[in-house]
Amino acid sequence: MSTDTLTRVEIRPLPDSFAAEVVGLDLSQPVADEDFRRIHRAHLDHHVLVFREQRVTPEQQIEFSRRFGALEIHVLHQFHLNGHPEILIVSNIVENGQPVGLGDAGYFWHSDLSYKEKPSLGSMLLAQELPSEGGDTLFADQHAAWETIPPELQARVRHLKAEHSYLAKYEELRERSPWRPKLSDEQVARVLPVVQPVVRTHPGTGRLGLFVSEHFTTRIVGLPEAESRALLEELFQYATLPQLQYRHRWQPHDMVFWDNRSVLHLAAGCPDHLRRRLHRTTVQGDKPF
Ligand code: OGA
Ligand code: MN
Repeated sequence: MSTDTLTRVEIRPLPDSFAAEVVGLDLSQPVADEDFRRIHRAHLDHHVLVFREQRVTPEQQIEFSRRFGALEIHVLHQFHLNGHPEILIVSNIVENGQPVGLGDAGYFWHSDLSYKEKPSLGSMLLAQELPSEGGDTLFADQHAAWETIPPELQARVRHLKAEHSYLAKYEELRERSPWRPKLSDEQVARVLPVVQPVVRTHPGTGRLGLFVSEHFTTRIVGLPEAESRALLEELFQYATLPQLQYRHRWQPHDMVFWDNRSVLHLAAGCPDHLRRRLHRTTVQGDKPF
C-alpha cells in the first residue's frame, strides 16, 4: 500500500483474473497526474481495468480517454454520438426502425481496429443502459495465450505475418443483423486490408502476445489457403482458451478500459428484446512489431 497521501487510487486485482478494479477514483473530477500514472501502469499490468460508479458526461469520457492518446473516429459514422464523433454507440436498440448504435459489435473475438495500420491501444466502454440478463463482455489474455503455445508451434509462427480486414466478416454480420449499414465506397476505401505480425511485442511492456482474431484475420501471408486456414484455427483455439478469460458482468455506471494489444474481447450477447447501450471511445496505438 502506498504511503503517498496525495494518491487516492487503489488498484485491486479481481479474484481469479488478470483484470483489476480501480477504486477511489471519480472521473467526473480532474485526475491528478500521480493517479493517472498509477492507472496507466495498472493498464499495462492488468490489461482490463474496471471503474465502478462513473457518472460521467461524454465530454468527461473523451477527456479522460485522450490522456492515453489520440482518439479514433469510427468508420461507421452512422453510430457516432451526436456532436461527439469520438464516441461510438454500441447498442442493440432500434428506434423508429433505425438502430441507434452498432448492435453486433463483438459478435466474434477481436482486438479493436486490428484492421488498421495503427490498431487501437485501448478502448473504453461506459455502460448507459444494461439488460436484466446477459450482455457480458469476455476478455482473453493474449500474452498468456502465447505462453501456452507449445515451443514447436511458437517457433513456427513467431515471425509470420497475417492479413487483417474489416470486411472479412462484414457481409456475414449483415445477414444476421439486417440493420448493419451497407458501407459506402468512401467507407470501404477507409478499411483496406493490412498486414500485421502474428505475434506482437507490447510496446509498453516488451511482452509477446498473439495478435490474430477470428473476426478480422483472413489469412497467413505466404501460406497456401488450406494450410493458412488450419493454422489460424489452431491459433484461435489458444487465443480463446476458457482459462485465459475474464468475464465482465456489467453493473450500472461501470466503465471498462482494456488494452487491445494484450487482450481479445467478445460480446457474450443478450436477448434481442432487452435494451443494451454503451459508449465507446477508442485510443489510437502504434504500428505493431
Ligand atoms: C466494442 C465491443 C463488446 C460488448 O465495443 O468494441 O466489442 O460487449 N463490445 O459490447
Ligand atoms: Mn470491440
